Parts: sequence; C-alpha cells; structure tokens
Amino acid sequence: MSVTVAIVGATGAVGQEFLAVLAERDFPIKSLKLLASARSAGKSATFRGREIVIEELTKDSFAGVQIALFSAGGSTSKEFAPAAVAAGAIVVDNSSAFRMKDGIPLVVPEVNPEAIRKHSGVIANPNCSTIIMNVAVWPLHKANRVKRAVVSTYQAVSGAGAWGLYELEAQQRAFAAGQPIVKEKFPHQIFNNVFSHNSAVAANGYNEEENKLVQETRKIFNDPRIMITGTCVRVPIPRAHSESINLEFERPITPDQVRQILSKAPGVKIVDDPAANMFPMPLDASGQDLVLAGRIRQDISREDGRGIDLFVSGDQIRKGAATNAVQIAELLV
Ligand code: A2P
Repeated sequence: MSVTVAIVGATGAVGQEFLAVLAERDFPIKSLKLLASARSAGKSATFRGREIVIEELTKDSFAGVQIALFSAGGSTSKEFAPAAVAAGAIVVDNSSAFRMKDGIPLVVPEVNPEAIRKHSGVIANPNCSTIIMNVAVWPLHKANRVKRAVVSTYQAVSGAGAWGLYELEAQQRAFAAGQPIVKEKFPHQIFNNVFSHNSAVAANGYNEEENKLVQETRKIFNDPRIMITGTCVRVPIPRAHSESINLEFERPITPDQVRQILSKAPGVKIVDDPAANMFPMPLDASGQDLVLAGRIRQDISREDGRGIDLFVSGDQIRKGAATNAVQIAELLV
C-alpha cells in the first residue's frame, strides 16, 4: 500500500534526515508533502531525484495526508498535530509534547512494536538518548531484568537542531581565524568545552533530558519499577550520542552472556576489541542506524556478579529520531 506522507519541519536536522531515510528504505510513498515555517515556504528539497517545494505549515495542510512525520518542536506539534489527526492522518511525533500522555504509544520498534496498535491518531517517537539506550539495554532486560541503570551521556550538538551544528562550526572557524568566539543559542561555548545538557533543570535537580530518560524508559519497557539515574552532557561532537551505562541485574550475569545476547539483538552491533582499543565512537556511529555497543565488562564494584558496564554510540538524528519514526511508519503501512 502506497501512502501520502507529510514531513513537518522538513528543513530541520531531523526533517532532512526523514527524506534520506524514506528514500533509502524505499518507503511506499504515493506523494510527499514538505512543510515548514513561513520562512522556508517556496524553498525546495530533493526527494528521489525530484524537487519538492516546501509549503508553509497551516491547519489546512493535511487534506489527504495519511502519515504525518512531525519534527518541528513541541509547540508546533501541540498546535498542529490535532489538525493532522482531524484530517485523518496518523501522526508520528518526534517532539516530547505527547510522549508521556496516557493512551499515546511511545515506541521503539525493537522493544515494544505491539504498542502501536492502541493509538488514537498520535504515536510518539521517544527522546534520542532514550532510544539509543533502550535498543542496547532492552534485550538484556528481557533476559535478566535490569533493576537499576546509571547512565551518563555524551550528546552531539546536532541533537539540539540544525542550529547546534552551525554554532559549533562557527565557533571552530572563529577559533581557527583567531577571532572572538561568539555564543548564540547554547548557554555556554561548546567548542573546546563540555557542559550539562542545555535543557531546563527541574525541581528534582535533574534536567529535562535526564528526566526523559527515566520516565520514557519506564513507559517503553512497561516496567514502572526500573530505577534509572542519568547525567546528560553536551559535548563538541557534530553527530551521534554516546552513553556510559552501568547496569544492576536481578541475577548474576557475565560479560560473555551480555556479548552473546547483544550479538543477536536487532539494531545492535558489538564493537568491543580491547586488544585494538576499538570501542564505540560517535564518528563510526554517524550516518548509519545501528547502536554500537562495547566496553562490556563486569562491574568490579560489586561482588555479587550482578553488575555490567558498557558504552554505546548511536546516531541520534537517524536511529535516535528519523529512522525510529520511519520504522514506526513502516509498522503502520
Ligand atoms: P524553518 O526552517 O522554516 O524554521 P531544527 O530542529 O533542526 O532546528 O528544525 C526545526 C524545524 O521545525 C525546521 O524545519 C523549522 O522550519 C520547523 N519549524 C519551527 N517552527 C515552526 C513553526 N512554527 N511552523 C512550522 N515549522 C516550524
């Protein structure tokens, strides 16, 4: 079945990746509508060698649209997703607007594909760090329940949007030219620096990104008891998030068992060669869909054999956003 698809936020970092991923995966598209703000109306983008003119997003944009892929920020989703649903479209929303709402499926296809069946027009795509962590941790959790996870992230600038990449590149160019480094949208200089994730810090002391990792994983795993704590950090890397993950299992588990499980896990590639010091790196994770997992070792701080440490890298624009949303759309058609 071929469907009519709209991309909302078609000029953004994730929007542009939607075009690439839909073409690569040969998604059955009858027609494709590209939507963005009035600023972009009249510009065009190429899909399968054809130019498509970008239109301004309005509430009337969705006539005839069957699947609408939204990635234009939470407020745009809140304002326009209801209009898309009213016009008969199924919305796959990459923002955080609906993720934690009851009755809205929050889906990582490798983890809980069955959840899409219960939608009422909107399916939420999880946060990028959550998706990357979930792809690697879920197969382990299924084999031996994870009681507690401690996650530290190393998040690429493009996760903030296309502007994050421009800002890093502008600061790199200024440094190379001996010019003053200008800080625009990030709260601190990102070039030659690392800072706590640029989302608001909530009353519990955790920033929004850290709280998303906890809440969203509980919903996706359908396990409200899993204990997770996170520290989310922005690093001066263009693309692909990395995460250091410490896991406490219910029963003892060995690194070999973890390797065996992950070697068969969908969406995971083991990169774990201590002799060559070859482990997951954002450079290798970029531009592809697998979550690279390595540094798999027994947590020596526990004597009961129930602790494992690992390190993962995944392309947050692809598997962390566009690819995951297109996989959800594939489950729908
Ligand atoms: P535009 O380029 O016209 O501003 P990113 O996450 O990379 O920053 O991209 C955000 C995407 O969301 C862009 O495509 C942007 O379009 C789009 N966008 C932002 N605000 C709106 C809005 N109010 N209406 C429609 N599209 C929007």
